[in-house]
Amino acid sequence: MNNIKVFSPASVSNVCCGFDVLGFSIEGIGDDIFIQKSNTKGIKIRRVTGYEIPIDEKKNTACVSAKALLDYLNINQGFDIEINKNIKPGSGIGSSAASAVGAVYGINKILGSPLEKEQLLKFAMQGEFISSKTAPADNVASALYGGLILVNNRENYKVIKLPVPEDLLAVVHHPLIEIKTSKSRSVLPKTIDINLASQQLASMGGFIHSLHTENFDLMRLILKDYLVEQYRADQVPLFHEIKKIAVARNVICCSISGSGPSIFSLVNGYEKANELKLICDKTFSKSNIKFNSYITGLNSGGVRII
Ligand code: HSE
Repeated sequence: MNNIKVFSPASVSNVCCGFDVLGFSIEGIGDDIFIQKSNTKGIKIRRVTGYEIPIDEKKNTACVSAKALLDYLNINQGFDIEINKNIKPGSGIGSSAASAVGAVYGINKILGSPLEKEQLLKFAMQGEFISSKTAPADNVASALYGGLILVNNRENYKVIKLPVPEDLLAVVHHPLIEIKTSKSRSVLPKTIDINLASQQLASMGGFIHSLHTENFDLMRLILKDYLVEQYRADQVPLFHEIKKIAVARNVICCSISGSGPSIFSLVNGYEKANELKLICDKTFSKSNIKFNSYITGLNSGGVRII
């Protein structure tokens, strides 16, 4: 195989109760990445279309991840990469993670899959570190595995895929402004109150149980962010307005996606999702803030060949 084209999805991370450890891929929204063997050494970005990203091989997340993989495998083959960048950087929906995952997945395939999927995660993380030195693996794991995942950032990035009730959908609004993950993390406290930690643990445990039992009432009751949202909410355009609308419509939860500025709500059923999307679209349109909005299941696929 000399070349490959892959799709690598955007993702929502944190998911209210799981700061840095929960995430899910977004259906049909992501980067298209074309990779081919080259006759020269090294990884080069030949072309970027869509949103602007650095093409310098030391600053581009796809290049850095791919280089980490090739160094590990001790392979000298060069590769050229073209990215159709459909996820705006600084979006809170895993822009850097998608490119990083696409690059390592595609190159591993071209090389005849010497590594298993779970072995690729740590190389994609090398690229993710370019956008934030303290980056967790929530977006990378979501893009790589697809569906709803729980990742352990300490224990060798062990990933658990969680069950998803069929009716569970997310409505995602992405205001087209950039918030850097590093900046969004800098507003967070360095320590947390033990009572809040305890509440967050109960929320996480309850959420996992509600997934297994498909209990939307429990999910609605238990799914809360006690740790992060309050510190970031004011940086996110229209967050308070959108949350008010979502809560009034009795959604399961509404919070910030990753480090923002994207906002997501979980709902059960397509009709509710579509109604919420339309009403939030109107609020964004009135504000003159440019935005994209999506409805996605929580069980869509991860990175794949197209
Ligand atoms: N979970 C991260 C955060 C975002 O909220 O800062 C992306 O990994």
